[in-house]
Amino acid sequence: MKLVTIVGARPQFIKAAVLSRALKKYPQLKEVIVHTGQHYDYNMSASFFREMDIPEPDYSLGINSMSHAAMTGKMLIELEKVLLREKPRIVIVYGDTNSTLAGALAAAKLNIPVAHIEAGMRSFDMRMPEEVNRVVTDTLSQFFFVTGEVAFKNLQMEGLDKPENQILKVGDIMYDAFLYYKKKALKPKMYHLPDEFILLTLHRQENLENADELASFFQFVGTLHNEIPIVFPCHPGTRKKLDLYGITPGIELIEPVGYFEMLYLLNQCSLVMTDSGGLQKEAFYAERYCITLRNNTEWKELVDLKVNWLTSLNTERILEALSALLSKTFNCKVKPYGDGNTGELIAEALFSYLS
Ligand code: UD1
Ligand code: UDP
Repeated sequence: MKLVTIVGARPQFIKAAVLSRALKKYPQLKEVIVHTGQHYDYNMSASFFREMDIPEPDYSLGINSMSHAAMTGKMLIELEKVLLREKPRIVIVYGDTNSTLAGALAAAKLNIPVAHIEAGMRSFDMRMPEEVNRVVTDTLSQFFFVTGEVAFKNLQMEGLDKPENQILKVGDIMYDAFLYYKKKALKPKMYHLPDEFILLTLHRQENLENADELASFFQFVGTLHNEIPIVFPCHPGTRKKLDLYGITPGIELIEPVGYFEMLYLLNQCSLVMTDSGGLQKEAFYAERYCITLRNNTEWKELVDLKVNWLTSLNTERILEALSALLSKTFNCKVKPYGDGNTGELIAEALFSYLS
C-alpha cells in the first residue's frame, strides 16, 4: 500500500519527520517521499533531513527560486510524472506552500485522494500566497487532518464537511515535534548568545514587498537591539531582499539555524517576534509570548488567549506589545492543539483507510 508524501519547505520537513516515524508502526504502508526542492540551502533543507533522520527523498525535483506561477507549474508537471510512475493510493501534503498546492493539484487531476495535514487554516486574506494555497488545497482534498476547533469550523463554513470527505481533529503535528525533539535542543555554536534576548524571524512576502516599511522596521530593530539583544536567524529570501533594497539592518543577520538549535533559542529567549506560522505555535509550546508581525493569523486561538499579539511591522504597536509582555510571566495552561500524538493519529487513520 503506497502513499506519496510531498514536501518542499522547512516546516514540512519537520512535520514529515513526525509522520514518517509514526508510519513505521505499519510496515504494510510504503511511504515514497518527494522533495520538490523549494527550499534547497543546506540549513534550509538537508540539515533537517539529517538531524531528524528523515528517510532520504525518493525523488528530488530541484524546483525553486521562481515566480509563484512558474514554480507551481513546474512542480505540477514533474509531480504528475512521479505520481503516474508510483501510482500511490493517497497523496499527503502539508500546510500552505506552493509545494502543497502543486502536490494536491497533481493528485486531484489523476483522481488520487489527497490528505491535507494542517487543513482548514485560514487568514481570510487572499492576497497572501499561503491563503490561496490553503483554500485551493482544501478544495481538492478528501482527508482533512485539522489541528482544532477553529480549523474544523472553517471547513464547515466552506461546505467541505461533505459525506464523502473525512475531517479528523488530530491536533498539531508540530506539537509532537516540539515534545519529541526538545530533549535534543542544541546551543548554537556559531555566534555569541546573550543571556537575555528576543528571537526574531521574518520571511513573509507581505512583509518584504515594501522597501520603506522594511527599512523603518529594521531601524527600529537596531535601536531596540541596544536595549535588549535581538537574535535573528535570517531566511535567505529576506537576506536577498535586504540586499536588493540596500537596507543595513543594524543587527547581525545570522544564518538560518537547524531545528534543534531553534528549540534551544525558543527555550532561552525572553520573547518571540515573528511572522512565521509555525513559530507562533512553538513560542506557545515553549511558554513564550509572541509578537506576530502580521495583521492576521491562522492561529486565532493564541490571540484569543492573549499570548500572541498581532502588530504587523507597525513599530508603535510592537512597542506597546513589548511593554505589556516583556516583564510578564507566561501563565497560560490551555492546550488547544491536542496531546502530542498527532502523528500516531494520522498514521492510524491512513492505515485504516488503506487497509
Ligand atoms: C515558503 C512558503 C511559505 C512558508 C515558507 C517556510 C510559499 C508561497 N511560501 O516561503 O508559506 O512559510 O516557505 O519557510 O510557498 N531561498 C533561498 N534558499 C533556500 C530557500 C529559499 O535562497 O533554501 C530564496 C529563494 O530563492 C527565493 C526566496 O528565498 O528567492 C523565497 O523562497 P520561497 O520558497 O519562494 O518562499 P519562502 O519565503 O521560503
Ligand atoms: N525554523 C528553524 N530554523 C530557523 C527558522 C525556523 O528550524 O532558522 C523552524 C521553526 O522552528 C519552525 C519552522 O522552521 O518549526 C517554521 O518555518 P518557517 O517560519 O520558515 O515557516 P512557516 O511556519 O511560516 O510556514
